[in-house]
Amino acid sequence: MRILGIETTCDETGAAVVEDGARILSNIVLDQIPLHERFGGVVPEIASRAHVQVVTRIIERALARAGIDPASEPPVDAVAVANRPGLVGSLLVGLAAAKSLALAWDVPLVAVDHVHAHIYASCLERPGQGESGSDDAGSAGSVFPALSLVISGGHTSLYRSEGWTRHVLLGNTLDDAVGEAFDKAAAILGLGYPGGPAISRAASGGNRRAVKLPRTLLDSDSLDFSFSGIKTAVLYHVKGQDGRRASPNREDVEIADVAASFESAVADVLIEKIRRGLSRERLDRVIVGGGVAANRHLRERLDELRSAEGIDVRIPPFELCTDNGAMIAGLGFRLLEEGSTSDLSLEVQPLTT
Ligand code: KG4
Ligand code: ZN
Repeated sequence: MRILGIETTCDETGAAVVEDGARILSNIVLDQIPLHERFGGVVPEIASRAHVQVVTRIIERALARAGIDPASEPPVDAVAVANRPGLVGSLLVGLAAAKSLALAWDVPLVAVDHVHAHIYASCLERPGQGESGSDDAGSAGSVFPALSLVISGGHTSLYRSEGWTRHVLLGNTLDDAVGEAFDKAAAILGLGYPGGPAISRAASGGNRRAVKLPRTLLDSDSLDFSFSGIKTAVLYHVKGQDGRRASPNREDVEIADVAASFESAVADVLIEKIRRGLSRERLDRVIVGGGVAANRHLRERLDELRSAEGIDVRIPPFELCTDNGAMIAGLGFRLLEEGSTSDLSLEVQPLTT
């Protein structure tokens, strides 16, 4: 069964065709970095306009790359769309496209939660990967129950997952999302946007212990997160307590050291929360997804958790950590299997439910 997945929740326009919830036949993603970088963050109105301009072409390319003739009847078996959570204008563009195609092709429309789809990304097969990646997708029993952590620009959420469509929230950020903290720290360091990849590049060769930054763990049993303290600590370190120091430069602040220390502090917090979650829920498996899961240092730390403590860590390949249509199509397949389809009255839900 082939499903077209459409992703427009924030600033990436994504369309993909995925077969049987696992095999990626195509996955086209167009980011809008050049449009937003001079503002240092995503401007919602610009994002939705940009989606309108390209969404049709991105879908056409996804079908073409998958070797599907759009005139065939029907080209795909269903259309899945991320209708929540996200920027309202951006969500509306993807939903309008999905509804139009589902109506024109007379195929089911499936509404997908973007955050849950980040968890699903861990079980997708990469093109050319063959059968190996399909184990996880095919046998839900071997994956669940598991702890799931979504770390992105908009979310830092920890769940107990009983299935790809069944996630119970255990903890959430009380202020900034972790990706947002990366973006803000990068802006303070003058490293540009998006901040995650910029910090990661700047951190190479830096001393991870050079700068003392806080690890906010909250109460000893808390599974919630807080990243505003670390962002403020970076600001004070770079600009001085009174905020008067000029922009960072090599004499005042060693940027590589700050970036490396920042990555290290964030990873410490995430690993500790994973440990707490696993222990409290008596689990030995964790699924990690979202843009920040592309961070190399964090991936190394997760590898250590796997090798030193025997935890089963599932994490998507780099290109499936950030927003994409394949994760939407994949989870859409699971929802379709469960009979979860929507009619044309489907609406967007900008806020997390
Ligand atoms: O999942 P995503 O593409 O969009 C949301 O759902 O928010 O995540 C985007 C976030 C941004 O904050 C970006 O800075 C961060 O993921 N990010 C990274 C890396 N690549 C992207 N953070 C740390 N290291 C990276 N390599
Ligand atoms: Zn995302």
